Amino acid sequence: MLKQILIATDGSESSMRAADIALSIGKRAGARLSAVYVIDVHRLAQLPGYAIMPGIKDRLMELMIKEGEEALGEIGDKARDAGVAYERGTAEGDPGEELLKLCRDKGFDLIVLGSIGKSGLDKLLLGSVAERVVRNANIPVLVVPARAEDEI
Ligand SMILES: Nc1ncnc2c1ncn2[C@@H]1O[C@H](COP(=O)(O)OP(=O)(O)OP(=O)(O)O)[C@@H](O)[C@H]1O
Ligand SMILES: [Mg+2]
Repeated sequence: MLKQILIATDGSESSMRAADIALSIGKRAGARLSAVYVIDVHRLAQLPGYAIMPGIKDRLMELMIKEGEEALGEIGDKARDAGVAYERGTAEGDPGEELLKLCRDKGFDLIVLGSIGKSGLDKLLLGSVAERVVRNANIPVLVVPARAEDEI
């Protein structure tokens, strides 16, 4: 039985397609939908100039928080329209690692992700976050392709 579904969003179009699928499954199953955006502090720290440029950390954090708010809000609107129970959250850290922790610790029955994300390199079959979750999650993973079937 699907009671709790986790949707991982980085604000990408691909993850929004994944959210739509998660919502239609959740609606039919009568499940709760939780959405999470992970603030990728790991990637931040690798940017050139990160350690020395004044204010850059705060500004980038702000941008990511805003990106998360928008994505989680958009999914929330869709959930409300669909009449699906919804909660949202953010985490901070390496996205793959944080998503795997949520899978392990929070009693979800399914995690739904896009096949690619913000980096969205078309030649890649799976983004690195999606690949890491597929390889290591202890619960079922649903990966939603970035493009509609007729576009592939
Ligand atoms: N920071 C994040 N928070 C929550 N979910 C995420 C995050 N990053 C990625 N995801 C999830 O993983 C899916 C695949 O994104 P992924 O990051 O693996 O691909 P990418 O951005 O194209 O490539 P890469 O990050 O490896 O350069 C997204 O559609 C989303 O569902
Ligand atoms: Mg990514």
